Amino acid sequence: MSAPLPMPSAEDGELCVEAVRLADVARRFGTPCYVYSRAALEAALDEFTTGLSGVEAQLCYAVKANSNLAVLNVLARRGAGFDIVSGGELKRALAAGGDPRKIVFSGVGKSADEMAAALSAGILCFNVESAPELERLDGVAASLGARAPVGLRVNPDVDARTHPYISTGLKKNKFGVAYRDALDIYRRAAGLPNVEVCGIGCHIGSQLLDPSPFAEALDKLLLLVDRLAACGIVLRHIDLGGGLGIAYRNGAEPSVQSYLDPLLDRLRGRALKILLEPGRRLVGKAGVLLTRVEYLKPGETRNFAIVDAAMNDLARPALYDAWHDIVPVRPREEAPRRWEIVGPICETGDFLGHERMLALLPGDLLAILSAGAYGMSMSSNYNTRPRAAEVMIDGDEAHLIRRRETAEELYALESLLP
Ligand code: LLP
Repeated sequence: MSAPLPMPSAEDGELCVEAVRLADVARRFGTPCYVYSRAALEAALDEFTTGLSGVEAQLCYAVKANSNLAVLNVLARRGAGFDIVSGGELKRALAAGGDPRKIVFSGVGKSADEMAAALSAGILCFNVESAPELERLDGVAASLGARAPVGLRVNPDVDARTHPYISTGLKKNKFGVAYRDALDIYRRAAGLPNVEVCGIGCHIGSQLLDPSPFAEALDKLLLLVDRLAACGIVLRHIDLGGGLGIAYRNGAEPSVQSYLDPLLDRLRGRALKILLEPGRRLVGKAGVLLTRVEYLKPGETRNFAIVDAAMNDLARPALYDAWHDIVPVRPREEAPRRWEIVGPICETGDFLGHERMLALLPGDLLAILSAGAYGMSMSSNYNTRPRAAEVMIDGDEAHLIRRRETAEELYALESLLP
């Protein structure tokens, strides 16, 4: 991805997203607030499209990474399809103008209702993750007089070498059909009247900074593709999932091209359309979480900077001990000191960053970087905290794409006993 986000303004060094000052966003929409850049989203998508030019391919953005309708719409307008994992994500993708014929449906627990909705919408493929799911899908398709397009998500037993919570392609993980069972399940699928076998897929994990496990998984899948062809089961597409990581902390990140090249080499000359399900790589760096310092609490052993964003807004640090760079929106001249950047939530795990060297005063704005993926989409209302506003910058305009929730909305679905 090109220029890091946000950029200091030429005049005074204050941080901007595209041509809009973050301080102006905070004034207009309040904090905490997620701020995304349309240009950065499009640039990230274009890296994939360019890398795949001349190849029969479909990008299916993983909606779970950031499911705001405006984000989905920006990507759909540029040709992206979607990888969904629930009936809710299906509705979102369609509401955002997504083309159902570019939607793949992943996930280990699809309900009959979700299957029916996706079949009626006419999606590209169900990534089926177990034999019982296949039977259920056949039944649902029969009841609708439809034929369900199916690819098996195979668990290739490849080590993605990433955080254990987001590693998905090992035997011990719940995902996909076991590699050694795949042929049998394909044969069963081919015999089912309401299912049309059309593809194969895998997703081995998320935030991979070394792309070699992707090629390893592909080699295993291609062995299956050839064995299936020998049994007369000819597949039309191969779905390599998502997982390409981003550099959260200074280090390098693999280029999209260096990720794609080994895959395209292996697929050259095969009549297989390639599907990819990138999430984080498309939206991660395109978003920041803007927050304001409420209080400073210097202490004997640690100095705490209490900000107005918390683990309910950005769960990644609390959940995975993930690092996000945190930078001041208006840099100060004073000497920096070491701060624990924490939120107002009543848990010691409520931190956004440990040991950050910053010069801070109460009221200062901070930008938490690379928060576009798995930020807002994993946020909660813990402590009855209304979820943050979301803003999309497009050139010199700031658009509110999700307004801040109100406390009343948070309990509007609840009722008292008579
Ligand atoms: N396809 C499937 C079937 C997936 O399960 C996922 C992510 C993706 C694609 C997209 O993966 P990506 O390109 O974004 O790595 N909450 C965690 C990440 C969980 C990823 C879950 N599956 C985090 O904040 O790091």
